[in-house]
Amino acid sequence: MRKFNTIIVTGGAGFIGSNLIRYLFNTARFGGRIVNLDCLTYAGNPDSLSDIEAERGGKTYFPEKTDIRNAEAVRAIFAKYAPDAVCHLAAESHVDRSIHGPRDFIETNVMGTFNLLEAAREAWKDREDVLFHHVSTDEVFGSLGDSGYFTETTPYDPRSPYSASKAASDHLVMAWHHTYRMPVTLTNCSNNYGPYQFPEKLIPLMIMNMVEGKALPVYGDGKNIRDWVYVEDHNSAVWKVMTEGKTGETYNIGGENEWENLKLLHRLIEIVAAESNKDPEALRALIAYVKDRPGHDRRYAIDCSKLKRELGWKQGMSFEEGLKATVRWYLANPRWIARVKSGEYRNWVEKNYGSRG
Ligand code: NAD
Ligand code: TYD
Repeated sequence: MRKFNTIIVTGGAGFIGSNLIRYLFNTARFGGRIVNLDCLTYAGNPDSLSDIEAERGGKTYFPEKTDIRNAEAVRAIFAKYAPDAVCHLAAESHVDRSIHGPRDFIETNVMGTFNLLEAAREAWKDREDVLFHHVSTDEVFGSLGDSGYFTETTPYDPRSPYSASKAASDHLVMAWHHTYRMPVTLTNCSNNYGPYQFPEKLIPLMIMNMVEGKALPVYGDGKNIRDWVYVEDHNSAVWKVMTEGKTGETYNIGGENEWENLKLLHRLIEIVAAESNKDPEALRALIAYVKDRPGHDRRYAIDCSKLKRELGWKQGMSFEEGLKATVRWYLANPRWIARVKSGEYRNWVEKNYGSRG
């Protein structure tokens, strides 16, 4: 079992990263220091960790507003904290945005990962008691037909600028292992859902649009399939791999939980209606079929038997309970939602957080 003193979590102010930091301190009882390296793009939100900040800020939790595109700034963080692990989540993460503006995806996901790897190589030299863990996606494997699953040996076949940039970063991480002997682990996970997800992704977008009485945009025929996993279960798997996984290996993480988008939306409508006293018929009337996403991958489905067999990972959350918990969280946190969506919030970040970086 690997032990760490100081972990740099990149992208710790985002959806998965903020849940991960909370998981590490509160559930995994991690006793060391966590540096949250995040430049706070539109998707990064220090509010998501205000409880951790209040309890541990400056003691065991250190937010650093830093851009991974800036090699010099990244090196300075390594010099300041002398980490013995990196858990790399910082990325541009939304497929639709990557179609409209791919440049940021290449700069952050590819060049940013390169900058981190180089900073780690310089700081760690040939140390073996360190770890660079890279968090990636199942989208690098491309699109499945009606049958079959992605395994760790499925050839890479990315189709969107987002998945191509993530695939490139995965290859860089593995190249640093093979060429420079850097201890690395890598996980490829399916679609996450849960609290603190920016409301541009399917599940929180649909919940918010129902609350606001807006159209529910279904791309194409609504029959695309995704494999959904609760964010806490993803994070418990990441921590298992970081502490017990073999270096130089990749592990697939998935929910074994495939849903057609439209079926998922109908289930979500029932839950939102029940939780907020709305008429399900009125919510169903909001469904709007819109133009399909270009290059829309048809089906993702993960075979995570390696992770279960070798590391004994298990999911803790059923989809039904996870969806209910997620709907309740969004209904109970209108302030968080309003702030992540407002321009005013961006100004607040500059005023209150900017000077800390
Ligand atoms: P997110 O968009 O919610 O958060 C990304 C975070 O990275 C934000 O806090 C943002 O401020 C930060 N960031 C972006 N560019 C940066 C830069 N140049 N420098 C420093 N910080 C920067 O994303 P997420 O959904 O939490 O995803 C986290 C990671 O997990 C990503 O690498 C993503 O590819 C991967 N992943 C996500 C999913 C999913 O379903 N969300 C599934 C599998 C893998
Ligand atoms: P998304 O949450 O963007 O994740 P990803 O594209 O990384 O899988 O989308 C999940 C699925 O939902 C995907 O098939 C696209 C579809 N989708 C819609 O139909 N409407 C929407 O408004 C969004 C955001 C997604």
